[in-house]
Amino acid sequence: MSQAVDEIKIGGIGASRKRVEDNRFIRGKGNYTDDIVLPGMLHMEILRSPLAHARIKSIDASKAWDIPGVHLVLTGEMMATRNLAWMPTLSYDTQAVLATDKVRFQGQEVACVIADDPYIAKDACEAIVVDYEPLPVIVNPMQAVAAGAPVIRDDKENQPDNVIYDWEVGDSAGTAHAFAAADLVSKLELHYPRSHPSPIECCGSIADFNRATSKLTVYMTTQAPHIIRAAVAMVAELPEHMIRIISPDIGGGFGNKVPVYPGYVCSILASILLERPVKWIEDKSGNLISTGFARDVYLKGEMALRRDGKILAVRMHTDADHGAFFSDAQPSKFKIGLMHSAFAAYDIPAAHLTARGTYSNKAPGGVAYRCSFRVTEAMFFQERMMQAAADDLGMDQAEFRRMNFVPDDAFPHRTPFGFLTDSGQYAKCLDVGLKAIDYENFRQQQEEARSRGRLLGLGISTMTEPLGAGNSREYDILGIKMFDSAELKVHMTGKAIVRTGARTQGQGHETTWAQIVAHELGIPAEDVVVEEGDTDTAPFGMGTYASRSTPVAGAAVAMVARKIRAKARKLAAHLLEVSEEDIEWELGRFYVRSAPDRGVTIQECAIAAYANMPDGMEPGLDATAYYDPPNLTWPFAVYIVTVEVDPQTGVWDVLNMVAVDDCGVRINPMIVEGQIMGGLTEAYAMSNMQFITFDADGNCVGANYMDYLLPTAWETPGFELHSEVVTPCPHHPIGAKGIGECAAVGGPAAFVNAVIDALSGTGVRNIDMPLLPDRVWEAMTYRRDISGAPPVRSDD
Ligand code: CDP
Repeated sequence: MSQAVDEIKIGGIGASRKRVEDNRFIRGKGNYTDDIVLPGMLHMEILRSPLAHARIKSIDASKAWDIPGVHLVLTGEMMATRNLAWMPTLSYDTQAVLATDKVRFQGQEVACVIADDPYIAKDACEAIVVDYEPLPVIVNPMQAVAAGAPVIRDDKENQPDNVIYDWEVGDSAGTAHAFAAADLVSKLELHYPRSHPSPIECCGSIADFNRATSKLTVYMTTQAPHIIRAAVAMVAELPEHMIRIISPDIGGGFGNKVPVYPGYVCSILASILLERPVKWIEDKSGNLISTGFARDVYLKGEMALRRDGKILAVRMHTDADHGAFFSDAQPSKFKIGLMHSAFAAYDIPAAHLTARGTYSNKAPGGVAYRCSFRVTEAMFFQERMMQAAADDLGMDQAEFRRMNFVPDDAFPHRTPFGFLTDSGQYAKCLDVGLKAIDYENFRQQQEEARSRGRLLGLGISTMTEPLGAGNSREYDILGIKMFDSAELKVHMTGKAIVRTGARTQGQGHETTWAQIVAHELGIPAEDVVVEEGDTDTAPFGMGTYASRSTPVAGAAVAMVARKIRAKARKLAAHLLEVSEEDIEWELGRFYVRSAPDRGVTIQECAIAAYANMPDGMEPGLDATAYYDPPNLTWPFAVYIVTVEVDPQTGVWDVLNMVAVDDCGVRINPMIVEGQIMGGLTEAYAMSNMQFITFDADGNCVGANYMDYLLPTAWETPGFELHSEVVTPCPHHPIGAKGIGECAAVGGPAAFVNAVIDALSGTGVRNIDMPLLPDRVWEAMTYRRDISGAPPVRSDD
């Protein structure tokens, strides 16, 4: 009889284990960057530009220097003497650290003050006098490429205009051919507006340079500590082994904490110059107006259709507004990220995508806010286009999707843009969703309500997201190949520590990585501690963003545990005095095949590794694994929303929302549900209430949390989650696919589709997000599409 340990009881895969990190978070015992106080620490504040585009005629900081308690005032001119006025970005561009020649967006860093406390530093910032000469402003890609447009990046050689890149992918000729043969061509044009990840904790750093040891330690809010260490080594020209980046607890990242920000660089230089620790903690408005924005793409496209509903080809064009500096992280080959993952779930013979990126007088944009490099925009366009095409064909929304899905038996499947998807049960997910929302019944209710003047709508959205970059053959950032790592040390008593190159920001890695070890070795999850975020102790990794942790670092945890198991097997053979070939494994225990009662536990093997190893065996039970995934993982989801729109006011309410997520094997079902709930909440907020845009002068409108609303439990509707479809990832060691972003990626189109569906018959094809009541009212009253693209009037 098996004597294996019970996996669920020890908190292995499939256990809804309570999050261990919450023990400290709910007690207020988290250790965030701002909680850290070092002896002799000074404080830094940043002076930001009030104008979006202006030449700097002069900066007079004399009054700031005179304020008691001020230790240093840094300006661009001083940075330039150390070759630090500009820094490289993660996308092969350059970014001003402190402005020298011009300011290029409202909120740009112009100077900073280091003082005894943050209040003195703030007062001193206000005493700095900057003389600006305003310049014409650009706030959208159309203005950026218009004849006579001012060149924003006149600091760069060989940059005669505002175009960053022109990129294309797909089969142009094949697509043209398919369009020529189409019965019908359906078109759609929209703007996915700027949005901001808005983590609750803002960005910040504490730089601590020790002249005696020449070691620089930086505590900072980064999602990717090792990349930051490499960037600091390059920018500050310090030896990499003398730099230690520690990313303490992080209060949400969502992509906002991937880029390198000027504040980090200034605090490092200030610490080197003053030989004291320097803390910089960004305030909320600083975070909201100057750090990595997301989205801001103009998408247009068309679909070639056969009369019976078969999609023959898709053509897409994207204009991406990157702001003043191209600074978001992209896998190097893909200028517009993974936008070409669009339509991956549908069986489409040909497709072609063109993309143009431009500069504007806005803060740097394009970060992957809860998204795998622009997948959110791709899926949004996909599902809005699917709805428009089904309407043009006069087909049922669900049926149109079903007939074009990649069928279950067609995997591996090459998508029209060249990705290889490997698994999924798309139609089954749709069926579960339709049943849960009571589709047929709702359609009847909708008809009946309409006859009484009530506007009900139903929106469907599906998404498949490429999660887990690399493989290293195709994915790199600044030439650094995308893979990840895990190190596992099993102590003598069978307790363990696992470290990875990822960095949790609230996703629960401290809980789930221990569950993977429990699954592989049978060591109870509570006996495994997880540590991330310190470059001196963690193995090299590319960090946590793009839901890559489970697909890559999580896989590395499984692989390193398997290395440990292989060594433990040798120890077991020694202890049981049989040959290795005679040993069998069951969870937590090795036993002799011919005598199953004779066995040793993994804990007994651990003691033997330190106290009773065979002659010639290297002592200890430690290993490191670097994991380079063979492919991305491809989770799939169906989101269905029903809404009611008030015909008098344009206010819309969610009646019901159903989410069917297939992320393969769920390590911790409760954490997965939390991730989906969070993502749907953000999707709802983006579609309904989050308004952050720019007026013609480049002023950021909605730059505070009175205007840019973060949803609370009060305004967020309920969500019904379904987990019955599980398609394990064929190449991931434990069959898991990423989940963290899926709902934020696929959710927005479901809400928008539902509102547009409620307005069917009015001829309205599109209302740009957010679907504020006045926009919906205007659309239905005047029977026209509503664009939300900037500039808006500043009195709006
Ligand atoms: O990279 P990030 O951690 O943001 O995203 P993720 O890899 O999708 O994981 C988010 C959280 O969900 C982590 O705690 C994962 O371990 C957990 N998860 C899970 O339990 N099962 C899955 N199939 C995927 C993720």
